[in-house]
Amino acid sequence: MVRVLFVCLGNICRSPMAEAIFRDFVEREQLEKKIQVDSCGTGDWHLGESPHSGTREILEQQGISCDGMESRLLTADDYERFDYMVAMDQNNYNSLTESNNQEKAAIVKLMEFVEDIEEEDIPDPYYTGDFDQTYRLVSEGCHGLLQFLKEKHHLD
Ligand code: 4NP
Repeated sequence: MVRVLFVCLGNICRSPMAEAIFRDFVEREQLEKKIQVDSCGTGDWHLGESPHSGTREILEQQGISCDGMESRLLTADDYERFDYMVAMDQNNYNSLTESNNQEKAAIVKLMEFVEDIEEEDIPDPYYTGDFDQTYRLVSEGCHGLLQFLKEKHHLD
């Protein structure tokens, strides 16, 4: 089993969107017994909340479910439980590496998995309001990440 944790600041906009999109890709390829997906935030302002309305609306338009998802905080256990901790931007990446005291999980940024990237970080739609841009970048990143995991872990 490969375990993937998407990480952003509030766990209401970008990382729940990534979790929902990536799970949809995984299910379409019938890899749900081989890849486990979750998300969390490094900040505690929105604990227990559903994804932001902007995230919910764009996922609904695309026919992707985010039912039952609730914001949760990053924990020390996550570094042991997950193989990949996938940051949405440099700020999230720095938060992850600063608190890291073990070497199990690979800490990466989602846009590393996109060739010819226009952005290295996924801009925060909580501030930009541009959930379409977030959806496009997160989808590209999730597509690249899944290809990478399939090859690296021989998941086909
Ligand atoms: P996210 O966006 O990290 O993509 O979930 C944010 C959500 C909430 C806040 C910041 C970013 N906030 O400051 O409350």
